[in-house]
Amino acid sequence: MHAAVVTRFGDPGVFELTELPDPVPGPGQVAIDVSHAAVGLIDVYIRQGLYKDRQGLPQPPYVPGLEVAGTIRALGEGVEGFRVGEPVVTLSGTGAEGGYASVSVVDAAMTASLEGTGVDPALAAAAVPNAATAYLALTGVAHLQPGERVLVHGALGGLASAFPGVARTLGAAGVVGTVLRASLANAQASALPYDDVVASEDLAESVGGQRFDVVVDPVGGQLRTDTLQVMAPMGRMLLVGNASGDWQHTVQTNALWRDNLAMVGFAVGSYLPAHPEQARPAAQAALKAVSQGLVGIRTQTLPLAEAAEAHRRIENGTVGGRILLTP
Ligand SMILES: NC(=O)c1ccc[n+]([C@@H]2O[C@H](COP(=O)([O-])OP(=O)(O)OC[C@H]3O[C@@H](n4cnc5c(N)ncnc54)[C@H](OP(=O)(O)O)[C@@H]3O)[C@@H](O)[C@H]2O)c1
Repeated sequence: MHAAVVTRFGDPGVFELTELPDPVPGPGQVAIDVSHAAVGLIDVYIRQGLYKDRQGLPQPPYVPGLEVAGTIRALGEGVEGFRVGEPVVTLSGTGAEGGYASVSVVDAAMTASLEGTGVDPALAAAAVPNAATAYLALTGVAHLQPGERVLVHGALGGLASAFPGVARTLGAAGVVGTVLRASLANAQASALPYDDVVASEDLAESVGGQRFDVVVDPVGGQLRTDTLQVMAPMGRMLLVGNASGDWQHTVQTNALWRDNLAMVGFAVGSYLPAHPEQARPAAQAALKAVSQGLVGIRTQTLPLAEAAEAHRRIENGTVGGRILLTP
């Protein structure tokens, strides 16, 4: 199979396009002929070596890529409910790398069928895994209730884009997004189901006095602290990432008890492998939102040989949606 391999931690130049033996699925796994592999900021962090000491994450040489769409190539021992040739997408939290390749092996439990959904594989890889993450975070962690109001930071990002549509399917009364001022024009052109997208700078002023029951924060940094001012009493802030790159920022926690607020973290990569029974309902909820056109994220597609360019575009913050690689 063809694969884009990270040969050592470092800048995007560390990618090498290589031929490797086709992987064979073990018990409980499926092999997928990959049509689209999604690229995420997490892939960039891992390649840069930011997580090099974290247990369970790969050491070079490795094939990155957590989320793919394609067709089933082979079934491992004990796998039922899929057939060879069936169109599928994988969820985040497969617990493995290996997506930037023409063949990828994943746990069947983290694989969802696209048959009969009408969702094309590019959109599936771009949107379904993050929509499943949004469903798990909004229901099981933030406990979003019908009629509540939701704020999503970094509103056009790969992960963030999945939240407004899923929040709508759960009965949210309104969903507002924030982006850096420089991205406001992109936001106005976006098809995502936000009621409004505003600048994240001067947040309290930008949202015009609105208060939110649930805030989704994949950005972090000073914005995380500023957000405390725009939360409704008993509001919950979901901490799901740190796209700001500000790893030193700390939050003063006294506002939490004083204003009856909660901050709670969620990482699908460690959550789903520990709760595999939740993958199927999350995938179904994600496919519902995606097939209703509620997760219309913009996508760019590059050949697998341009994995380094895909990472450069993410590092430069010029994507405004999701990048996919095609083997
Ligand atoms: N918790 C989980 O399970 C989970 C799952 C997937 C990803 N993540 C994390 O979520 C974060 C976002 O990942 P992603 O793949 O969605 O990334 P992405 O597609 O690159 O999106 C990041 C967004 O953050 C915004 N942003 C705001 N300030 C920024 C800054 N200073 N630098 C860069 N971006 C900035 C950007 O939007 P504007 O510039 O328009 O504001 C951009 O759209 C990462 O930290 C990732 O590790 C977590």
